[in-house]
Amino acid sequence: MAGRPHCAVVARDGRVAIRIASALAMLPLLCVQPAPAAVPDREIDARVERLLARMTVAEKIGQLWQVNGAAGKIPDDLRANVQAGRIGSVLNEVDVATVNELQRIAVKESRLGIPLLIGRDVIHGFKTVLPIPLGQAATWNPDLVERGARVAALEAAASGVNWTFAPMVDVSRDPRWGRIAESFGEDPYVNGVFGAAVVKGFQGDDLSRPGAIAACAKHLAGYGASEGGRDYDSVSIPEIELRNVYLPPFKAAVDAGAVTLMTAFSDVNGVPASGNRFLLTDVLRNEWRFRGLVVSDWESIRQLTVHGLAADENEAAFAALTAGVDMEMVSTTYRDHLADLLAEGRIRAEQLDAAVRNILRVKYRLGLFDRPYTDPAAYPPVASASNLDVARQLATQSLVLLRNNAGVLPLSMKSLRSVAVVGPLADDGYEQLGTWIFDGDATISRTPLRAIRDLAADGVTVRYARGMETTRSRSTAAFARAVAAARASDAVVVFLGEESILSGEAHSRADIDLPGNQMELVRALRAAGKPLIAVILAGRPLTLGGIVDEVDAILFAWHPGTMAGPAIADVLFGVESPSGKLPVTFPRVVGQVPIYYARRKTGKPPTPGTVVHIDDIKVRAPQTSLGMTSQYLDAGYQPLYPFGFGLSYASFSYSEIQVSQRAVRIGEPLTIRAVVTNTGKVPADEVAQLYVQDLVGSVTRPVRELKGFRRIRLDPGERREVAFKLEPGALAFHGRDMRLVTEPGDFHAWIGGSSEADLRADFSVVAE
Ligand code: BGC
Repeated sequence: MAGRPHCAVVARDGRVAIRIASALAMLPLLCVQPAPAAVPDREIDARVERLLARMTVAEKIGQLWQVNGAAGKIPDDLRANVQAGRIGSVLNEVDVATVNELQRIAVKESRLGIPLLIGRDVIHGFKTVLPIPLGQAATWNPDLVERGARVAALEAAASGVNWTFAPMVDVSRDPRWGRIAESFGEDPYVNGVFGAAVVKGFQGDDLSRPGAIAACAKHLAGYGASEGGRDYDSVSIPEIELRNVYLPPFKAAVDAGAVTLMTAFSDVNGVPASGNRFLLTDVLRNEWRFRGLVVSDWESIRQLTVHGLAADENEAAFAALTAGVDMEMVSTTYRDHLADLLAEGRIRAEQLDAAVRNILRVKYRLGLFDRPYTDPAAYPPVASASNLDVARQLATQSLVLLRNNAGVLPLSMKSLRSVAVVGPLADDGYEQLGTWIFDGDATISRTPLRAIRDLAADGVTVRYARGMETTRSRSTAAFARAVAAARASDAVVVFLGEESILSGEAHSRADIDLPGNQMELVRALRAAGKPLIAVILAGRPLTLGGIVDEVDAILFAWHPGTMAGPAIADVLFGVESPSGKLPVTFPRVVGQVPIYYARRKTGKPPTPGTVVHIDDIKVRAPQTSLGMTSQYLDAGYQPLYPFGFGLSYASFSYSEIQVSQRAVRIGEPLTIRAVVTNTGKVPADEVAQLYVQDLVGSVTRPVRELKGFRRIRLDPGERREVAFKLEPGALAFHGRDMRLVTEPGDFHAWIGGSSEADLRADFSVVAE
């Protein structure tokens, strides 16, 4: 590391350990002292202004360009560009010696010595892989998710990364969209709560502390609503829905302190996000007062020409900068055209300066000017026991039990003599990690097969048969061995789903059934006549209607990450009760999509009584006999599994719902409470959820909206009150004039274990 002594500081238990490292030796811990206070914003602004005043136009434009790294190398052009101050950030370089050398060139060999932002997609863990974000949302445990982000930040920071491109807070209501895996699901509130938790986990209380990395809320905005679930496709969202559904999670991330945001690839109502002044300036800067940095997505400024918004790259640069994109990821339109645009007077010096300020401010806040280098030895080891423990807890709490016919689960250690473990995902340490695992280390993965073997009591025989090579295999050649294993065993656990490559960016699917011959495998195993448990690993909700009646239990595991095995084994054998709840609705068939719980009422809402099935229609039945409500003749209107749903080995009852005031004045808080009782036989966690309906509004309102949730642990027979405080503003929404308003009127509130909770209390909101 470039032969230069430097200091590194690692926070532990609120204290700070300072180590001095050099090219020759890593000296031991020298001293322990209180953490330095964060530099106040005003002081940072003053430093930014002093530096800005010394910058040439070329140096300013240089700060606006982010280039892709060269995997542990520094090619001549990269070196020359950093030396000349023509680069503000490098992404995808995680070799710490290379990062340190790049920083040294920037700090020592460029005229102004401005350090680099080092960006990386640390989406759900670094070396230790946590569940995919959709799985993390299924924990309904923001504190634990925050701890997971902290683990990821520390592991990434040890490689010199100081900026991650997460959390993704795109509300995702279409399981065909491959990037639903990266989201926190369909609900604005859930995306906001988890987005904020991840921001806090990455950034900590003080961004300048070692181990804190800048978060990036992405992709502003509406990307999750890409037409037909096809990634990158067009997005059409009326402004009122943008404001009520798609923008609130970004606002929550900004309020939590996210210092960067990324634009979306898609066009939103005809204006691609990377050239969208309404989103990036009117809303983000003027309404929300965001002072951080906005980065484009990968080449998304150049793509303004592909969209047909700009005739050439010069126009693309103009559109993006004037819309409010500060930094250009990879493409070179700013580098190539901003100077001319400035000289021609098409963009003003203040516009360029504003973008530079936003970038420099983040660099100062990260403390990079004082501490540009990374000493990996000053960080805790990656994949440490405590990191794996966080990953395991997240994986355990993310597991959603969808079906448990006749209590087939948990498997009994006492009575079970043998178990068949079958399927393409039972023993694949790579596929269990899911999408976006650039730095994930599959060699440390604990697979379900291994964990079941470890956990199974002595004398229990575990018979393994893969059955299918991959989840997409069409061959049935290996079925016979799997069926033989099933026949010889007391119970069968089959690991099905999607390999990691089937979800994530650009990996959308039109058919979200189990791919390949998995259904046939299930039927073949069913014929063995043994209790059959399906564990499904996938990056999205799948349409499981075809297997529900073929199996006795379904445990939905998402892609659980490094610690998939122990988490799943613990739940299968009852060491832990399943406690995950769905953060997204599971459709019966793909044609029901989009299907989400917070739909608006319509003028002809369906009810169970109005459903007519196609098989029951009489010949020449009169048109009006078919229910005349909003539903499908062949799939009804109800999902297979609703939002918020998940079974437990315990059971819970909800009672005694109360509101603190029957009539609450606008601007006053309100508390809604209920009692939850564990009516089962085992201790277990439950996620209590509060939903609200605004009965009449100046615009039509959702049938239910989640307003709060809490994970609680209850022993058998234990009762606990859960209280949800609705702060003033919690019932506000954007009305016809796009203003945020709380309207007087009547409301229903429900508290229960899913979005179908039926324990209700009513209240009214009255004018001040
Ligand atoms: C993705 C972003 C990601 C970026 C950098 C893009 O293709 O859309 O989410 O952060 O690449 O890897």
